[in-house]
This record gives sequence, C-alpha cells and structure tokens, in this order.
Amino acid sequence: MRGVLLTEHGGPEVLGCTGIPDPEPKAGQVLVELRTAGINRRDALIRGGIGPGYRPHLPVILGSDGAGIRRDTGEEVIILPSLRWGDDDACPGPDYAVLGGGPDGGTYAELIAVDEACLFPKPRHLAWAEAGALSLSGLTAYRALFTVGRLRRGQTLVILGAGSGVSLIALQLAVKAGARVAVTSSSEDKLRLAEEMGAAVGVDYTVPDWELRLRDEIGEADLVLDSVGSTLQESVLLLRRGGAVLSMGGTGDSGIVSDFDIRTLYLQHKRILGTAMGSPRDFAGFLEMVSDGDIDPVIDSVYPLDEVAEAHSQLDSNLRFGKIVLSME
Ligand SMILES: NC(=O)c1ccc[n+]([C@@H]2O[C@H](COP(=O)([O-])OP(=O)(O)OC[C@H]3O[C@@H](n4cnc5c(N)ncnc54)[C@H](OP(=O)(O)O)[C@@H]3O)[C@@H](O)[C@H]2O)c1
Repeated sequence: MRGVLLTEHGGPEVLGCTGIPDPEPKAGQVLVELRTAGINRRDALIRGGIGPGYRPHLPVILGSDGAGIRRDTGEEVIILPSLRWGDDDACPGPDYAVLGGGPDGGTYAELIAVDEACLFPKPRHLAWAEAGALSLSGLTAYRALFTVGRLRRGQTLVILGAGSGVSLIALQLAVKAGARVAVTSSSEDKLRLAEEMGAAVGVDYTVPDWELRLRDEIGEADLVLDSVGSTLQESVLLLRRGGAVLSMGGTGDSGIVSDFDIRTLYLQHKRILGTAMGSPRDFAGFLEMVSDGDIDPVIDSVYPLDEVAEAHSQLDSNLRFGKIVLSME
C-alpha cells in the first residue's frame, strides 16, 4: 500500500508518501480501506518530536483521524482514535493509546488494521473529506463541553482561538446545544467567519486586555474552553463564581503557565478541569449530535496523500480556517 512513514523528526519536508507493506490484522481487528485522513496538531507535534508525549519509537505511520470502507463488510466507517480506553468512563486505563502515535499504524495510509470496537458508522450526510476530518477534534470538543463541562442551554461559553480545529467543532456543538458562545482569534477574518457560524461575540486576543473587553461584551462566563494554556489567568478571570476552565491544550508558550495568582481561583470557587480526547461513549454521543445533519465540519483544504508535506506546511502556516485533510482517492 502507499502510506506516510515518519522515519525522522523535523519539519514538513521529512514527510513523504512511499510504498509500505500492507498491515496484518491481529485478533479483533479488521482492515479498513481509508478514503481520507484528517490532520491534527498532534501529528505535527509527533513529526517535530516536540515534548515528551510526542516522541514515539520510529518509524511510525502518522494519523489519528480517518474514514473509509471496511474490507470485510463494505460498511462506510469512521474511526475512533482512542484505543483501549478501558471500563472507567472518568478516565482511560493503563492500556490506553491514541491512534497514530505508534506502535500501531495510523491513518496516513491506504489501509489500516484497527480494533473493530473503534469502528463507528459514518454519518450519512458527510462527504469523505468531512468524515475523515472529524474524529479527534470532535471527540475532544464533545467530552470537554458535555461530559466534563456539563454545558447546558443558555449558558455562556468562551472558546479561545477560533481558528483551531477543536475550537470550530466546539463552536458548532455548543451553538447546537443552545449556549451563548464568545470566541477569540488573532484574525479579523476568522472572527467574522466564527460569527457567521453562530458565535455571539468575537474579540482579537492580540489586543492588550482582550479579556476585559470580552468580559465587557458578554459578562461572566460559565465555561472557558482553553486550548492555549498560557492564557490560564485570563481564562480564570473570565469565569463567574463557580465556573470552570476546560483545559485541553498548551498551544501557547509550550503549555507553560507563569504568573498565575491562585487566589483568583479558590476564593471564587472556580475550577480548572483537565480533559483529553474521549471514551467510546463520548464518541457515540458526538456522532449522535452530528448525525442529525446540521453539523458539517469546516474543511480548509484537501491534499492528495502524495502532498503530505504541503499539507503539513499549510497546518504550520496558521492561515487556515478549518481542517486540512489527506485524500487517498
Ligand atoms: N486534550 C486533547 O485531547 C486535545 C485534542 C486535540 C488538540 N489538543 C490541543 O489543543 C490545541 C489546539 O489543537 P488544534 O488541533 O485545534 O490546533 P490548531 O488547529 O493548530 O489551532 C491552533 C490555534 O490556536 C490559536 N491560538 C494560538 N495562540 C493563541 C493565543 N495566545 N490565544 C488564543 N488562541 C491562540 C490560533 O487561533 P487563531 O488562528 O484563531 O488566532 C491557532 O489557529 C493544541 O495545543 C493541541 O495539542 C488537545
């Protein structure tokens, strides 16, 4: 088959499509003929070998998101990237792994052998590019907002970084659930597009005291979805008493938080809740919301598998709005 085997860490130029042996399904696994694979920030972190959680034993086939056709039944499926979550819905067990981080092969390939338990029916209304772009970001957003954050109709949610893949699907899910959503972005264009998708307010986070401007516009927030990390102090300041930061990423300053005044947290009964990816139950809940037909993931661009290096350059450029997808067709 053709696939993208990461053999050394580095920039987009280390990625290329080559001929590699077809995967052999183990017990409990089935072969899926992949049609599309979404690209996530995680893939770029593994490509660069950035951070302790992102240096798997090489070589490895990248890719956590994928959609395709089961070779045994012909069914159209979408792949859950959480492997071996375990029995406790509160957090994953010791055997847990994320697809595309080795040793199992990921989705940047024409074929994948994957646990049957990770296969879910593809929502019928989605095109292949949309279905392949959905899993990791949607799963993460759904668990953060609903399982961990318990977001309810009428509540106010702030989402940091409207351009992020997780942020956009979180915006769509929260609007569908009847929340009032405010977003931040460094780009006026992205703010406008987020407002077209249902955001009530958008604020440029490159402007000094952006959090005060945001609070003037929306009042206090029930929840802040924070994938940036270095913004923790501002996120806590945006909350109402008893509200919660949903902490799920460290895009800013490599996830290091400095100058945090802990009194702004405990004296106001505010909380910081960590969350990562999600369980099979979260994925089923997410797909149920998507299957109603009114949530279509936003696609920035689609690249043939051969152009994987160009696709990763686009991810690094920060000019994109929505998901970047590799196509095997
Ligand atoms: N916990 C999990 O399970 C999980 C799952 C997926 C992702 N993540 C993490 O979540 C983060 C986002 O992932 P992604 O794939 O959605 O990334 P992404 O698509 O690469 O998004 C990055 C976006 O972050 C925004 N940003 C950067 N610095 C910011 C700042 N100081 N304030 C506000 N926004 C800022 C930018 O938005 P604008 O372009 O709008 O300015 C940028 O487009 C990453 O750190 C990733 O590792 C965690």
